[in-house]
Amino acid sequence: MGKKIGIIYSSVDGQTKKISEALLHQIRGQHMEATLWSIEDFKEKVTDFDLLIIGASIRYGKHNIRVREFVSNNKEKLDKVITAFFSVNLVARKEEKNSPDTNPYLIKFLKEVEWEPDLPAVFAGKLDYRAYSFLDRIMIKLIMKLTHGPTKTEKAIEYTDWKRVRDFGELVLTRLERGPRQN
Ligand SMILES: Cc1cc2nc3c(=O)[nH]c(=O)nc-3n(C[C@H](O)[C@H](O)[C@H](O)COP(=O)(O)O)c2cc1C
Repeated sequence: MGKKIGIIYSSVDGQTKKISEALLHQIRGQHMEATLWSIEDFKEKVTDFDLLIIGASIRYGKHNIRVREFVSNNKEKLDKVITAFFSVNLVARKEEKNSPDTNPYLIKFLKEVEWEPDLPAVFAGKLDYRAYSFLDRIMIKLIMKLTHGPTKTEKAIEYTDWKRVRDFGELVLTRLERGPRQN
């Protein structure tokens, strides 16, 4: 029987969804069965999958509460499948904060939910002042100022390194080939 991969994302402005879709196409391109859901729509049984990828973006220092709850409520089941988790944020545009060992949001999240995905990852997101509400724009400008990033841009800046996304997709497929998780 073919292996089953699920991708669950939580995205507000679409960048995490875009990354998830890129992974979906990459996986399907390797003739593997994969399906994509937003965290709100995912109603499947976790243990029906061979591998689950969960992606979530950061807003004001946190991943969507639904993601946190999903992981907390399904920890035992998640331990029975191969899991990949990626966080999308703007701090990760910095070289020294773009790995699972150095990105403060990912480190904090995994510690708080007491979970160790097999394949953790971090990707830089997108900066688009035009998409933000007045208040959000002020806040993001402040965050960018504090972290020495641009506080004014004509166009959106996509910091996502698509090669790193593809490498992550490769890693996922390689891990799946190696067979199920040993508990
Ligand atoms: C309201 C708001 C708050 C944000 N807060 C943070 C933050 O605290 N730290 C950070 O690194 N990025 C922050 N970001 C940047 C987002 O993580 C980034 O834009 C990402 O691409 C969003 O992904 P999404 O479109 O999938 O939601 C914030 C963005 C917005 C709009």
